[in-house]
Amino acid sequence: MHASYDDISLAYKIVHGELTVKKHAEEFTYLNLLGDVQGKAVLDLACGEGRFSRTIKQQGARQVVGVDISAGMIELAQQAENQQPLGTTYIHGDVAALGTIGSFDLISAAFLFNYAASREALLALSRTAYNNLKPGGKLVASVNATPLFAPLNNQATRKYGYLVHSPSPLREGDAVDYAFFTGSHAIRLRNYHWSTATYEWAFREAGFTTCNWQAPTVSQQGMDEHGSDFWHDFLREPNFICLECS
Ligand SMILES: C[S@@+](CC[C@H](N)C(=O)[O-])C[C@H]1O[C@@H](n2cnc3c(N)ncnc32)[C@H](O)[C@@H]1O
Repeated sequence: MHASYDDISLAYKIVHGELTVKKHAEEFTYLNLLGDVQGKAVLDLACGEGRFSRTIKQQGARQVVGVDISAGMIELAQQAENQQPLGTTYIHGDVAALGTIGSFDLISAAFLFNYAASREALLALSRTAYNNLKPGGKLVASVNATPLFAPLNNQATRKYGYLVHSPSPLREGDAVDYAFFTGSHAIRLRNYHWSTATYEWAFREAGFTTCNWQAPTVSQQGMDEHGSDFWHDFLREPNFICLECS
């Protein structure tokens, strides 16, 4: 039921490119949190097909390296780089086993940590983030299946192009299943739920000393185009949350 990213790479790219909630809430919140990347060396963990890697490079980063475990996703990222060379480099591999490949100003990890199926896996991913960061640098991440999100198991999110299925009550490490869809394509993903306390434990164990959580916000353009009523359910129970660690 839940295909690997190699099977859904193209559909993922299409679906995410078309979803209103991705553009006006997720990308908007995430890019704001990444802040000014001008002149920075950035490691984009779980880069997927490279949408944030490309944007970060286009916004003036000195160096961007993207890493993803899916060969299909890396192939799409590399194709985009070949078509429009930006100087972004991509590595196919598991973040947990990456080791230290550099000393980066900024680590980006959009929807990586929610793939950890155990606390040990979460810690291994966090260690890689910490070990590749310069002293004084920061980690910016977003996570699905989050502490903020109430397990809806209902149709309220259909208007945003996704449905969530999860156990209720939701416990540490439970699988949370997503279906994302547009008119033409659909994908299914499985993520894992961890509390803020567990995330903060993993980040602290890895070496980070601060961790700030940031609830999603919606761009003015998104509000203007769809109206505040449209965003009400999403903002009340968002399906993701961002965080910043240093
Ligand atoms: C929801 S996608 C997000 C992609 C991209 N960050 C974005 O926001 O568009 C999650 C990505 O995490 C990757 N991934 C999951 N576990 C990973 C791991 N242990 N190491 C590297 N990549 C991983 C998947 O292959 C997939 O491309």
